[in-house]
Amino acid sequence: MTVSFATFERLKSKGVASYKKGDYLAAKTYLVEAAECMVELAESAKTPEARRQHEEIASELIDLAKDCDQLKKSGKRPRVRVHEKADENGGADVSDWIVRDKPDIGFDDIAGLDDVKEEIRLKMIYPFTHPELARRYGINVGGGILLYGPPGTGKTMMAKAIAKEIDAPFFVISPAQVMSKWVGEAEQNIRKLFEAAKAEPQAVIFIDEIEALVPRRKSDSSTVMARVVPQILQELEGFDRKGNRALLLVGATNKPWMLDEAILRPGRFDARVHIELPDAPARFKLLEIHLGDRPVADDVDFGALCDRLEGYSGADIRNIVQQAAAIPFMEGVAGREPRQISMKDLTSVLEATRPSVRTADLARYEKFEETGK
Ligand SMILES: Nc1ncnc2c1ncn2[C@@H]1O[C@H](COP(=O)(O)OP(=O)(O)O)[C@@H](O)[C@H]1O
Ligand SMILES: [Mg+2]
Repeated sequence: MTVSFATFERLKSKGVASYKKGDYLAAKTYLVEAAECMVELAESAKTPEARRQHEEIASELIDLAKDCDQLKKSGKRPRVRVHEKADENGGADVSDWIVRDKPDIGFDDIAGLDDVKEEIRLKMIYPFTHPELARRYGINVGGGILLYGPPGTGKTMMAKAIAKEIDAPFFVISPAQVMSKWVGEAEQNIRKLFEAAKAEPQAVIFIDEIEALVPRRKSDSSTVMARVVPQILQELEGFDRKGNRALLLVGATNKPWMLDEAILRPGRFDARVHIELPDAPARFKLLEIHLGDRPVADDVDFGALCDRLEGYSGADIRNIVQQAAAIPFMEGVAGREPRQISMKDLTSVLEATRPSVRTADLARYEKFEETGK
């Protein structure tokens, strides 16, 4: 059997409509069917990236289907707020994408990335803490920042930290969300989202994996994307810089060269920050952060580890620490006397772990930094 996006859209919207009505039995059936459909689409996806996105959508739908069982049993209303405020067209309410809770990650929990932190302070914090100075020097608030660089360097983490640092509504958009929750209603929802953001005195919109949402149009195959790309560009065009409103758009990508060129034009992402692998001080901080409250033996030499961790990303370092901590933990589980994490635990894991980012890939980012493509 070959399935189409249209079949998927139909099943998904039936599932979501039943879910909103509280008909969880029907919702579950449709959602599971939609998920199966998506799994098939994933199998025939043209790129690994597309496949991963499809799979993510399928798993979100399965989660929603599981919710149905719970909700049916408990007789409670869905925990997702959007379903109470869905509009007459069945479109999702934008409140669903606003992160109003403050996450507990702040700038201090992120090693390095000082230029990103400073760029965000310049655009969204200092103009408010120093309004006189900002007026005097004609500093505009808001704008666009593109974060690009190898995976595992803290770009997504940055989103959470910005939400904590800036006391403003925070809208997070991920391509998987756009594809699954917005399929069929994508343009309408993007318009609503930008409208809601513009109505706030201050707001931040974070688009993660933006290359999946605004890909170069020639490489684009899905009809949803073909409609969404021009629309996002148009919304960016309408960005009001001079007004009193402060709207900050932050995009993150591991593959900046895959972005639609139009989005890189002046006035859209005027600040582009290359997020590189952590330097020595950042690696030191990463070790401190991730070894954190864990019991560490005196023989652990942070300086020596730092040297040996050159070329490893923040995510690599976190993984190495986690695996090292698992060694004494497993010994403890086996009944041995609990002990601290030793230098040997860390170095043995390090020796067995390659950096996840290859040197050849780094050159690609350098090229983008120089040429913008
Ligand atoms: N600069 C950093 N400071 C602290 N932790 C980091 C940093 N970079 C990566 N990490 C760790 O790696 C994980 C994955 O990073 P992530 O933000 O998803 O990377 P990216 O979005 O750039 O691929 C984070 O949740 C964090 O635990
Ligand atoms: Mg990321």
